[in-house]
Amino acid sequence: MKFDSKTRLYGILGDPISHTLSPVMHNAAFAAVNYPGVYLAFEVKDLAGALTGAKALDLKGLSVTIPYKVKALDLVDKLDDTARRIGALNTIINRNGNLYGFNSDSPGAMAALAEKTTIKDKNVAIIGAGGAARALAYGVKSQGGSLSIYNRSLPKARQLASELDVSFFPLLEFGNKQCDILINTTSVGMTPNYDNMAVAPQTLNKNMVVMDIVYNPLKTALLKQADKIGCVIIDGVSMFVYQGALQFEMWTGIKAPVDIMRESVLNALK
Ligand code: ATR
Repeated sequence: MKFDSKTRLYGILGDPISHTLSPVMHNAAFAAVNYPGVYLAFEVKDLAGALTGAKALDLKGLSVTIPYKVKALDLVDKLDDTARRIGALNTIINRNGNLYGFNSDSPGAMAALAEKTTIKDKNVAIIGAGGAARALAYGVKSQGGSLSIYNRSLPKARQLASELDVSFFPLLEFGNKQCDILINTTSVGMTPNYDNMAVAPQTLNKNMVVMDIVYNPLKTALLKQADKIGCVIIDGVSMFVYQGALQFEMWTGIKAPVDIMRESVLNALK
């Protein structure tokens, strides 16, 4: 890959950021279609400052991750309607110096779920109430799932549940009520804490579809346990690649090389 004065800079803003595979995935995609772009990871303590800097340096697009998906809403110039309704964004496009916020997590997650299950009339339990949970909850609700939110801190669960008019419970109550689809949206189980899981192993049963949005490791403790007892499992790479493919298409206007993106992520996880 050659870099010159025409090279377009993209990146991801988060903290911590060392676990991210977004640079691997997006640089593989740029190279595959010969797009003059480069994508870097930025560990950011000052989000407002980073966005002002991104504009000043004319970065063309950004991904936004933990812990900034909600905070970034107030810092972009324009917000897509769906991102506003979800209450979180993970994608920014710089259009002539104006930052536009979008959410590709929600359609990305729904595409990953659609590979293995349907949502309509299913009892769906979402663990977590942060930015990623908002994207999933919005998608599940839109597709007619019956949704329950479980979170460690109850006020955050209450807030999200009231926006969507769904039920909420303390995390420790997971398992008291039957569910068909369980989705972990918390960072519990992410490298280096790969032995941890957000729910107790005995709360799983073989009829559940279990999805984890953590993609590093590929098979989290939750997915290992679910697989062991015979559940259908959905790993975090599916959602990660689909949300990234949508970002790529919004930034470049070119159809995303999805298979190459997935392969680059799986290779990096080996
Ligand atoms: P993101 O934007 O990726 O969703 P976030 O907004 O910081 O990140 O949300 C993280 C979610 O993971 C929250 O629901 C958080 O629970 P709290 O609201 O109680 O903080 C959840 N989470 C993080 N670490 C957790 C842990 N060790 N146990 C249970 N839940 C955890």
